[in-house]
Amino acid sequence: MTTHYTGLIERYRSRLPVGEKTPIISLGEGATPLIELVNLPKRIGKNVRLLVKFEGLNPTGSFKDRGMTMAVTKAVEAGSKAIICASTGNTSAAAAAYAARAGITSFVLIPEGKIALGKLSQAMMHGSVVIQIKGNFDAGMRLVQEVAESMPVTIVNSINPFRLQGQKTAAFEIVEELGRAPDFHALPVGNAGNITAHWIGYSEYAGQNTKACVFCQGACAYQQGGGSAKRPVMLGYQAAGAAPFLRGAMVDNPETVATAIRIGHPMSWKQAWTVKEESGGWFDECSDEEILAAQALLARTEGVFCEPASATSVAGVLKSLAQGRIPEGATIVCTLTGHGLKDPDTAIAQSTRPVTVEASREAIEQVITRNMAG
Ligand code: F0G
Repeated sequence: MTTHYTGLIERYRSRLPVGEKTPIISLGEGATPLIELVNLPKRIGKNVRLLVKFEGLNPTGSFKDRGMTMAVTKAVEAGSKAIICASTGNTSAAAAAYAARAGITSFVLIPEGKIALGKLSQAMMHGSVVIQIKGNFDAGMRLVQEVAESMPVTIVNSINPFRLQGQKTAAFEIVEELGRAPDFHALPVGNAGNITAHWIGYSEYAGQNTKACVFCQGACAYQQGGGSAKRPVMLGYQAAGAAPFLRGAMVDNPETVATAIRIGHPMSWKQAWTVKEESGGWFDECSDEEILAAQALLARTEGVFCEPASATSVAGVLKSLAQGRIPEGATIVCTLTGHGLKDPDTAIAQSTRPVTVEASREAIEQVITRNMAG
């Protein structure tokens, strides 16, 4: 028996819309670690079980790979020769990589000057046609939808329903690892595709329907059941400068240091409200300072380096714990959506600068002495 892992489509084949002949485009995505935080709960003095699903360890460094393996697989199956997306960076990196793997063309629209360096390098290196627009993500999303009406390109943003089908597998993995659904599941929210996908996954696993699923609309064809009937309370956290779910209306000029979620017109607006209602959850917002503090706390106390947007889930949970909205004793999973290496500029800007010394033993010993505790 082989133990070679070949990606989430093979692993969850029976729960995904693929057939025997579907040509699967995979880079071995999924099966990311669910890391129990050991230092952070002690530090905040809360008796909770806090785990992070580190999606930054996917092939291109973000959760987008889960959706992209499905979207590109289905595009190729349908005979498409080109894909297109608007992106704050991670979707473009994933689209570029999976298109390269499939041998098709990718076009990515990104907001000029507003995507993290690592993500830009990925799209460029994988040979994507990178189109920088003088506008934000929301403008890019509108343009992609217009262009796809007349050009032979398949949209691989999360409005492509196969994306959410791939992304729902993160919820399967969590239930299988924990042996049950967590009490709370927290995610950063931009377009709100991922929170919707997780809810679809948890619902399907629990044998329950959700109106958030465009495939089933309350009677899911892929529903398997068999898991526990329990589903988590879903928590969606936004950056304060890009928080349409808190304002209850679209935001025209979103701004945040967490460029991945610099989105004012979420595509899965209706679905995310359904998720909130069906799960009994809530939306909340975090300031840029709270987001960066959570990112640094994770890196320095737990050894986990995620990108700023990803830390919004942890920043939000810290806030909800402090407010008593999440009770002691709870099991909480936070999704860390992308790797910290995606955005080296932001990491360097908030860290201690390296010291420069002579290349001598004495100089190194001095630095050690100066920095030893006590
Ligand atoms: N975290 C990261 C690191 C992201 O890149 C994104 C979205 C999100 C969270 C929000 O997920 O949109 O499903 O609510 N990034 C998209 C992109 C928009 O283009 O890479 P969502």
